[in-house]
Parts: sequence; C-alpha cells; structure tokens
Amino acid sequence: MTVHFIGAGPGAADLITIRGRDLIAASPVCLYAGSLVPEAILSHCPPGARIVNTAPLSLDEIIAEIAAAHAEGKDVARLHSGDLSVWSAMGEQLRRLRALNIPYDVTPGVPSFAAAAAALGAELTLPGVAQSVVLTRTSGRATAMPERETLESFARTGAVLAIHLSIHVLEDVVADLTPHYGADCPVAVIWRATWPDQRIVRATLGTLRTAIGAEMERTALIFVGHSIGAEAFDESRLYAGNYDRRYRPVGTDPRFPEAS
Ligand SMILES: C[S@@+](CC[C@H](N)C(=O)[O-])C[C@H]1O[C@@H](n2cnc3c(N)ncnc32)[C@H](O)[C@@H]1O
Repeated sequence: MTVHFIGAGPGAADLITIRGRDLIAASPVCLYAGSLVPEAILSHCPPGARIVNTAPLSLDEIIAEIAAAHAEGKDVARLHSGDLSVWSAMGEQLRRLRALNIPYDVTPGVPSFAAAAAALGAELTLPGVAQSVVLTRTSGRATAMPERETLESFARTGAVLAIHLSIHVLEDVVADLTPHYGADCPVAVIWRATWPDQRIVRATLGTLRTAIGAEMERTALIFVGHSIGAEAFDESRLYAGNYDRRYRPVGTDPRFPEAS
C-alpha cells in the first residue's frame, strides 16, 4: 500500500501528468484538496473509489482517512493543486506518514506560476533582463512570513516576482514594490489560469489598480518584473550561430571535438 501524492495542476483537467492520471486510476481511495483541484480530474478514479474532499477536514482527520486505507491495504491518491513543492501542506502529511511507517511517493504537477506564464506566452528569464524568478507570497491569516522574506528584500535583487496568495492585498504589494522597480515596471495578474474563466490584466505598477477595476478577489497570481512583456532583450548565446557547444561544434578547433 502506498499513498501517492500527486500534483493535480493549475485547473485544466488535462494538465496533469500521465503518471499522475494512472496512479489516480489505480487507487481505490482518492483524497483531494477541493478548494482548487478541478472535479473533472476525479473522473480518473476507478469505479467505486472512495473519494473525499479534504477541504473541510483537519490534518488529524486527513491522516485518519489515510491510516484507515492503510489498514485495508488500499492505495491512496492524494491530490493537491499545482505542484506539491510549494504551498501544498504536503510536508506535514509526509512527516506524519513517516512516523506511522506508511509508504508514500510524490508525483509532480504543473505549478500555477508556470501555467500563468504560459497564459501570458511569456518567458520570465529573458537574457539581459532577468535571470531569476522568486516564487513568494505575503503573510496570510494562517501563515506569517519569515522576517527576512519581505517583498522589499526580494525586490532589491530585481528578480521577477511570482507572488501567490496575495491578490487581496494588491495595493500593499504595489506600494512595497514601486520604490524598487519603478512605477513603469510591467505587471501581469492572471486569475484562475487554465480554468474556463481565466482572466488576464497587464499593466504597470503605476496603472495596475485602475486596470483591474472592482474585481480583486479569487485565485490569482501576480507577476512583477521587467521581463513581463519585454521586447528589448538579448538573444541567448546558446543558439547563436558562432557559439561553440557540445551539440553544435563550431570552427576549426571546437571545444568538444569528440561530439563532432
Ligand atoms: C495554496 S497555493 C497553491 C500553489 C500550488 N501548489 C502551485 O503549485 O501553484 C494557492 C495560490 O496559488 C496560486 N494559484 C493556484 N492556482 C492558480 C491558477 N490556476 N491561476 C492563478 N493562480 C493560481 C494563487 O496565488 C493561489 O492563491
């Protein structure tokens, strides 16, 4: 018996890995985080599966569900939105399972920042503009930010920020970032990327509040940084015709002659 933690992706039912889908289909129990995991993904569960929405459950109740399946020798598909490596609450579940000697594995999913960047048609790391992306958030009711992980401290690096869980404090985000990036810095807000009601607003830090209008709430990701929508950036050296590389040796004395 194994508990399969599976990243269920950002919303669209077909943005799950084939491995994740097959594990769901092979598991007689499915626990899913109902607030963001699309119900359509549950159609992969086998007939007669026990399907439990864990949104209203406590951690103790979730572990009790898993322990009951373990006692019956039934595999569990445990679904969380996006990928499991960020803001999934997987860590605390894995720790409990280790203490109970219940086996588990982890299958990654498409994270919401990647889905949101795809919706923009954007490469976030444009040569000469930005080469780092910070996945971050602001303090919430349930989770305080560590003291040193402020938006201002990340902003000082000039990296592109992918700000999660923060649309409700958008005005604070804009106020904190404007002194560092400037009012003309591009911003994009993507609500419910890949869902049928996906919405995108592109603006600058200076114009964002007006561009968004009344609607602020609902699941959204905020990108801030100079690579968002940029046209002025360098071409990558990797594909330059005169760049000598292992897969495309160039010149009379290539650096990787054995590959030619
Ligand atoms: C609890 S976190 C889950 C993150 C998830 N594990 C991931 O890989 O993206 C929820 C936050 O992720 C972002 N998010 C999740 N799904 C999204 C989507 N489809 N479109 C835009 N933002 C999304 C929002 O910022 C939301 O507040």
